[in-house]
Order: sequence, then structure tokens, then C-alpha cells
Amino acid sequence: MSTDKTPTRSPPADRDGQVLRLYEQLLEIEQRLIPTGLHVFGRPSESVERADVLRMVASFDRPEAGARALTDLVAEGLGFSSYTKTTTQQISPEVLLAERERVDAIVAAGIREFVADGSEAAVSYLEKAANVKPQTSQQVFALLQTISEELSVNSELESLVRALRGEYIAPGPGADIVQNPSILPTGRNTHAINPYAVPSAVAFAHGEAVATSLLQRYYDENGRYPQAMALVLWGLDNIKTQGEGVAQALWLLGVCPVRDSLNRATGVEAIPLERLRRPRIDVVMTVSGIFRDLFSPTVQLLDKAVRLVASLEEPPELNYVRKHVREQIERESCDMDEAAVRVFSNAPGNYGTNVNFMVMDSQWEQEQTLGDLFVTRKCFAYGRDSHGQSIEGREARVAMDRALARVEATYQNIDTFEIGITDVDHYFEYLGGISNAVEKRAQSRPSIYLSDSLSRNVKIRSLEETVRLETRAKTLNPKWYEGMLKHGFRGVAEIENHVSNTFGWSATADAVDGWIYTEVARTFVFDETMLDRLRNLNPHSAHSLVRRLLEANGRGYWDVDQTTLEKLRDISRSLEDELEGVA
Ligand code: BEZ
Ligand code: MG
Repeated sequence: MSTDKTPTRSPPADRDGQVLRLYEQLLEIEQRLIPTGLHVFGRPSESVERADVLRMVASFDRPEAGARALTDLVAEGLGFSSYTKTTTQQISPEVLLAERERVDAIVAAGIREFVADGSEAAVSYLEKAANVKPQTSQQVFALLQTISEELSVNSELESLVRALRGEYIAPGPGADIVQNPSILPTGRNTHAINPYAVPSAVAFAHGEAVATSLLQRYYDENGRYPQAMALVLWGLDNIKTQGEGVAQALWLLGVCPVRDSLNRATGVEAIPLERLRRPRIDVVMTVSGIFRDLFSPTVQLLDKAVRLVASLEEPPELNYVRKHVREQIERESCDMDEAAVRVFSNAPGNYGTNVNFMVMDSQWEQEQTLGDLFVTRKCFAYGRDSHGQSIEGREARVAMDRALARVEATYQNIDTFEIGITDVDHYFEYLGGISNAVEKRAQSRPSIYLSDSLSRNVKIRSLEETVRLETRAKTLNPKWYEGMLKHGFRGVAEIENHVSNTFGWSATADAVDGWIYTEVARTFVFDETMLDRLRNLNPHSAHSLVRRLLEANGRGYWDVDQTTLEKLRDISRSLEDELEGVA
């Protein structure tokens, strides 16, 4: 079981550093954008949440609207160079944080001004508060005006009725609002993207920054690069980000996409080692069934990339793909087609790992069963063999076992602020499932990382850090759970889901600190008023939540004293009686 390290007394100089790091963490939690309620079909968003969304939209450059990031405009107006550059300049962390806080406060006030009194008021406020030139901020607020108007109307119900009548529904792109505000208005026929356009130039550029930070983080923790990594790639993510996950995989391998005369990304080219200045990483890719179906040309591209890298005449210590492929061919007398398989998914027509169902239904005894199930579901190879024959889901269990046995780090990209790793059971079924499978096959727990495309600065977090952040920002945050409880029955179900999904990270990856379960119990079960609210709104979910806590204890993920345990058991029994109509 993981627990926070006991704090030790540190020398004064370092104590200042620790206080600063703590402060940074608090800021991170405070600034994290969280949904404070569920979307109600057919209902426009409320103005408080609208202000948060507009602030996020305004924090990015919007070249398509001729608008620059408001954070940069304010930072420049105050003479701080630029908002993101401040983080890389050689100035003290205290000054840097103070500058960022000042920028953030002015931007937030500007947005509030806009929501309350309109564009002109906001433009004039920013000119006074931070010398932002009106002609530059006007562009930003013109965009925010359009978005704000589109957020105030909602024709989802009308469109649904039209769809049921078989009438035409105008199309609209699929993304989240911060990544692509042109998804508005909602209630349109969502379309994906052209897979041949993936990864886009923007996604590829961003992919480099993420891959570099990811490898740097591993290097800092281990003093060397990982020889092999396992990545999870999802369809909807790569639609929304135009292929950021794909771009990250290509960067780790050290290749770039090559576009043909029709501008389709159908080829790959090796990035020279002198430019890369690090080894090429062996990448095992598990793609979802949705990705496999939507991104068939991309699956081919990824497989092509692995084969290209395996064929490069480079020293083994700078090309781990080639090193591993050659070792396997020699050791097992197999051919290239067996040794170079790296793109796996479900059997054709199949979807999902079922790891989430096994966890939710408590249908397992040993943790490693979960990783074995993952491999059973996902061990189907896709790509092309050395004769150019397409491989469409050939069962390749041994190849997958071999590939996973070398993995030292696992990783998944989070594409949106709307859904995090404890909101749905899919993150733990995939990233948790593959990490669990690696642990058994490599006989060592991999480093597990996530990154999100939610802020402008690339941030790589360990799984444990991400679980803590999400727990503090959502599950244990009164703003979040009170927002959920406004939805009554469904809201309690959401709280219970979060607890169960958190439990999923214990089951698959042992990544949940004991204090998290203690605080969940304190907040939702041992607070009598809260327990009454939950039981009145949704006794089924209240009961499941208590049972999940008992299961966390029973399986050894949460140490708890006997009195507390008895109290939990009593509450569980009383809820059960109530559900069965005994009470
Ligand atoms: C996907 O977009 O590929 C995906 C969505 C939900 C669950 C798993 C995968
Ligand atoms: Mg689902």
C-alpha cells in the first residue's frame, strides 16, 4: 500500500524551497478547471462556469481569429516578457510565481468585467490595469463575444427531435471547447477528422515538447532513458487533439511524418540522431478499438515507423527498437515480422479490455489477473508484414508478452479538462491494465506517467501525483461534490463512481495513498449529515460507496483501525437493510 512519506525536518534554505513547492501545488489545485456539475441536455451553461471557460479559451493564441493569448498580452503590458517565457527565464522562482499570479489575477478580472459589462469595459480595464493595447485585446473579446453568445443558446433538444424525424442536422467538429471553440453551437452532427491529416503540424510540434518532458522526467528519476515504453492511444483523444498521442509516439521513436502529393501523412522519415540527441525509444502501442476503426491509415503509419526504426543501421545504445528486435530474432530464431510487432488492439470487431468490469464487479482474486485479461483482450497485431501484406488483427500473444516484458515506463495523454482519470473507468482499464500486465511480465513495476494538454506548459505527472491532484480537485472538493449533489440521484452516483474509479487505480497499479480512502470515509460516510443526504438521494450508490471502502480495506489498499472498520460495517449493514426494506 502506498502512503505519503513522513515529513522530515529540513535545513532552513531548503525549507523555503519546500514552502514554495507546496505553494505551487496549491496553486495547481486551485487553478485546475473542474466541471462543477453535469451538463443538462438542452440547457445552456450558467454564467459562472461560462467565465471559467472563457478564461481558458483566452489563455491560448487563436490565430484563426487573429487573437493572441490574453495572458501573453497582459504579461507583455506589464513588462514581464511573455507568460510562458517567464517560466524559462533565469529569474528566481518567487518572482516568477508572483508575476504569474499577477497576470492570472488581471486576466480573471478582465474576463469578469467582460461577462458583467461587455467588451468595451473589459478592453478599457485591461488598458488601465496592464497597459494592454485596445486594438490587440479587442480581437480577443470579439472572439469571446461570439463564444459567449453561442454558449447562451442551446438547440440540442430541437436537433434531437429533428434527428428523430430523419431531418438534416448541420455538422460540427468534435473537440472540446478550449481546444477548438468552433465546436459551438452544440447540438450538431459531430464529425471526426480526416485520419490522413493526423498528426497535424500543431500536434506534431506539441508532441515534441511532451515527449522531451516525459523522457526528461524518467531520466531525472532514473539517471538514464527508458529502453521501452508502453503507450495507450484512444480514438476520441486523437480526434480532439488532431493526433497529439500519435505525434508523441512518433517523437519517442524519433521519426516524423512525411506527406504525399495529396498532402496525406502516409510515410515516415527518421529524425537524425544528431538532431534527436537521445536514443530512439522502443514503443509498444495499445490502441483502442475506436482508434483502430477510425484511424486505420494511422495504425499503418505507426507500424511503418517501428519497422523503419528497426531497420536503421545505428548503434544499439542509440536505437532500442533495433537492439530489441535483433536480440529477439537471435534468441528465438524468429523473423522480423514476429520481432517488430508493436501495434496492438482488440480482435477485429471487439472493443475494450473488460478490466473495468472485472474490477467493478470484484470478480478477481489476484491483481495480476487484471493484466492478463488486458493482454488476452488486446494481443491482436495490426500493420503490414515484410511482404506488404496487411495484418488485420492477427493474434500475437507471445509477441505482446515479449514486448511488454521490456517496458520500463507506461504513459497516456489526457486530452481534455472535462474528463480525468477518476471520472470514468476507462483510464484505469487501459493505463492501469497495461501497467499491471507490464509489472508481471517485466517483473518490475513500470514508472507510470500522464500528461495533459490542459495548460500551456507541458506538465508530466506520475500516476500517484495525478490521483492525488484529481482527488483534491474533485472527489474531496466541496465545490465539486456540492455541484454533483445538486443533481440528486445521478450526482450521488457520480461521487460513488469517482470512489470506485479511484479504487480501480489501487487494483491495477497500487497508486492510491491510504489517506485518500480515509478522507473519503470522513467526508461522505462519517459525517452524519452528509451520509443522510446521500442515503436520501440515492441509497444504492451510498451503499456501494461504503462497500467499496470496505473492499479497499479487505484487499489491503487501506489500513484502518478495528473501531473504524466496525463502524463502516454497521453503516453498510444499515444501508443494506434499508435497501431490502428491513429497516
Ligand atoms: C476511445 O476514444 O478510443 C475510447 C473512448 C472510451 C473508452 C475507451 C476508448
Ligand atoms: Mg463508458
